[in-house]
Amino acid sequence: MKWFAKAPSNIALIKYMGKTQQDINLPANPSLSYTLNHLLSFVELELRRDLTEDQWQPLEIAGALPAPLSAQAQRRYLNHLKLIKRRFNINEYFIVRSANNFPASCGIASSASSFAALTLCAVNAFTELTQAQPLSLHEVAALSRAGSGSSCRSLAGPWVLWRQDSIETPDLSYSSLRHRVVVVSKEVKSIASSEAHRRVSTSLLYQQRSARAQQRLNYLLEAFAQKNWHLAYTLVWQEFWDMHALFETSDQPFGYLQPATLQVLDYLRSYWENNGDGPLVTLDAGPNVHLLFRDDQSRQVEVIENALGGQFSIL
Ligand code: PMV
Repeated sequence: MKWFAKAPSNIALIKYMGKTQQDINLPANPSLSYTLNHLLSFVELELRRDLTEDQWQPLEIAGALPAPLSAQAQRRYLNHLKLIKRRFNINEYFIVRSANNFPASCGIASSASSFAALTLCAVNAFTELTQAQPLSLHEVAALSRAGSGSSCRSLAGPWVLWRQDSIETPDLSYSSLRHRVVVVSKEVKSIASSEAHRRVSTSLLYQQRSARAQQRLNYLLEAFAQKNWHLAYTLVWQEFWDMHALFETSDQPFGYLQPATLQVLDYLRSYWENNGDGPLVTLDAGPNVHLLFRDDQSRQVEVIENALGGQFSIL
């Protein structure tokens, strides 16, 4: 028997960085994300009565990239499956096959989409196998969050607000944004986000981080309510720098920015200064630059793609 699911990635405009409870990934502050429906993870689960443990394999699927997972990433993924199996009292073993249609582990939030897709697939499979009542979105989100915090924001859209142990889908302006990511590097990042969450708590800046994130979230929601795109751009810019400053001011400083990241950011700032308009700009825990355009900014998408596309690939 086989089951299949897919889930989108998401990009946070107010970032989840730091936890108050490690085991179930309770966040130190609320975060707000936009769901990226074109960046997808796919998961297939196959029930195999001949196996004595779960296995991971790459999924062959049209339009997706072969993405071998490191031994450590496979263990983490299979541990998540085990957690969902325990929740449903499942004792059988499975082959988990997965793939993304974008490069993994380089700050395009593949853990969000891949854990959301595995959670959805396993919940569907185990609900069917045990004939259990369907879980609520709240319950699915709690399970997914335990695997990767940011994955709970990939279960809905277009906007998802994650506070503590619940997700909401606020009805905000700008509900059909266009996303592009300027890929500065496809290298797998050297510090995984789990390690980043641990290290940032040692930064002096972390002591007021939760209050800052909360306040910036309030300002951003207000900017959206007033359709003040320029203010939203400024707040989103400040927010990614806040997260990257936590990285560089932790006891063991680390960073993801590359010279080309700064070159792209510099271009985008000048673009805004010269045009009085432009995309929202943010970075995840990686060197790649995420852009969100309003649906009336097609011309700007083209201009910026032409300016940067010669040097970088743009997804
Ligand atoms: O879900 P995790 O533990 O991989 O955390 C990722 C957090 C960031 O992507 C760096 C920021 C965010 O809110 O998505």
